[in-house]
Amino acid sequence: MNKKIFTIVAIAAVVYMTACGGGSDAPATNTNKSNTSATEEPKSMVADPVSYDPKRGEGKYDETNVKVDGFDAAMATKGKAVAETKCFSCHKSSDEKLVGPGWAGVTKRRTPHWIMNFITNPDPMIDKDPEVQAQLELCLVRMPNQNLVETEARELVEYMRQNDGAK
Ligand code: HEC
Repeated sequence: MNKKIFTIVAIAAVVYMTACGGGSDAPATNTNKSNTSATEEPKSMVADPVSYDPKRGEGKYDETNVKVDGFDAAMATKGKAVAETKCFSCHKSSDEKLVGPGWAGVTKRRTPHWIMNFITNPDPMIDKDPEVQAQLELCLVRMPNQNLVETEARELVEYMRQNDGAK
């Protein structure tokens, strides 16, 4: 009798351990599941996905009034000076986060007119842009309006292009 119980316990233990071995796949499956829901969530958070264009943002700038053909070094130098007074308290030029995300690669992630729209009036875009909302969740701070005039915003874009390798 005792022997029988021992055998049952032993078999149960083996089955349990096998299940555990197989179970090591389970966390991976779970991770995949949570990844899926993580990518789906922001979509449902978009207030008005139909009227908001994530390539353009919201504002008066678009590809017709922001031209970025040749690189203008003098403009980039002015942009850097603006960044030093108004932006570098929160942003680094590298990919490292300070208060806000690092600027490295920003001109690859965003169109020039998106950047102009965002930096001249961040508020409506923080409310609508799914990627900015994701950044806000990480940064926990809303980027304040820095009251940039158009020339400063354009100079900043030129500096960001230089920072991303434009010559
Ligand atoms: C008080 C801190 C703060 C200051 C000052 C600030 N920002 Fe930001 N910025 C942020 C935060 C935080 C984000 C992420 C979005 C959010 O949470 O609002 C951001 C996001 C951005 C983005 C989007 C980056 C990306 O990877 O998409 C750009 C571009 C940007 N800021 C440019 C500027 C410029 C240009 C200035 C100066 C004129 C500036 N910021 C000043 C905090 C700041």
